Amino acid sequence: MAEELVIAANASKEQKYESLLPQIEALVTGESDFVANLANIAAALKQALNFFWVGFYLVKPAPTQAGGNELVLGPFQGPIACTRIGLGKGVCGTAWKEARTIIVPNVDEFPGHIACSSDSKSEIVLPAMKEGKVFLVLDVDSDSLNDFDQTDQVWLSKLIRVVEKL
Ligand code: SME
Repeated sequence: MAEELVIAANASKEQKYESLLPQIEALVTGESDFVANLANIAAALKQALNFFWVGFYLVKPAPTQAGGNELVLGPFQGPIACTRIGLGKGVCGTAWKEARTIIVPNVDEFPGHIACSSDSKSEIVLPAMKEGKVFLVLDVDSDSLNDFDQTDQVWLSKLIRVVEKL
């Protein structure tokens, strides 16, 4: 695997994603451990794009709810975060429930947003699917308003395709 990421500091966001994606594919190739790969993907995203918070929430059985699932915090980079999120709760729980990508330009205007950190101002959440079901979400938070757009959605969706094949 590659020893370090090569991302031009003065590149545009799109150029950074474009050069990052093949490096992430190389990073996970040959490693079969799912958590190790998610951990390196979170670190690579943080390092290349300098996100405020980036990480994964995994769909897992909820101990307090027989037969039910919830999102549980997985590998991430950034400040400490909420560990469990219910179906339909916050942006992550909504992206899971509705199996769709959600871009939130201003988290204060998203009904039910879960404020893990008061510094988080905007976010994008993308679901990853296996056999027609969401099995995790990728959550990226910014400390600026309106920080995510179609470029993020397009490139992070390509990354989600990589995660779905891990
Ligand atoms: N903001 C998220 C919660 C997760 S953290 O921000 C890391 C939400 O409302 O789903």
